[in-house]
Amino acid sequence: GFEGSALRLGARNLVFADGDPRARLMVIGEAPGRDEDLAGLPFVGRSGQLLDRMLAAIGLSRKAEDPAFGAYITNVLPWRPPQNRDPSGDEAVLLLPFLFRHIELARPEVLLLLGSPAVRAVMATADGITRMRGRWLDWRGVPAIATYHPAALLRDGSKKRDAWADLLKLKARLDG
Ligand code: URA
Repeated sequence: GFEGSALRLGARNLVFADGDPRARLMVIGEAPGRDEDLAGLPFVGRSGQLLDRMLAAIGLSRKAEDPAFGAYITNVLPWRPPQNRDPSGDEAVLLLPFLFRHIELARPEVLLLLGSPAVRAVMATADGITRMRGRWLDWRGVPAIATYHPAALLRDGSKKRDAWADLLKLKARLDG
């Protein structure tokens, strides 16, 4: 119902979340793309297929029946920016309270932040993903780890090694 963002006018659908809100892991991307805008679901295009494979590699799935093996997936922005342009900082800041409330309601044990825009928005840092990835961060008491966005991994396969190391760290934490 929020009418304070013009992004809403250019989007076909609100893209809220997918997966199991009871899952231990909450994944946060940047913004819906074309496929996501059409489907009304996050991460359904090529990046999404890679994200699903990354999660499967550590035993998790947005489709899992058991929340212990589930994943809950959302984005910083719930609307696709026109022509897929990068969202401005102001656009993200305006909508951030909704994301933060969303995290608080879902109460995940761990957050996975995908790419620079997500880590910058959630962690309120100017640093990009190269500096922020791969170490434990803290969002209001919730442990968070950042890694490369799957779209970046599709563009540059040499980043996959680091992303895999980040996923293993995440898995080790979930495995206690
Ligand atoms: N990239 C994102 O950051 N989010 C999506 O939902 C799809 C692609």
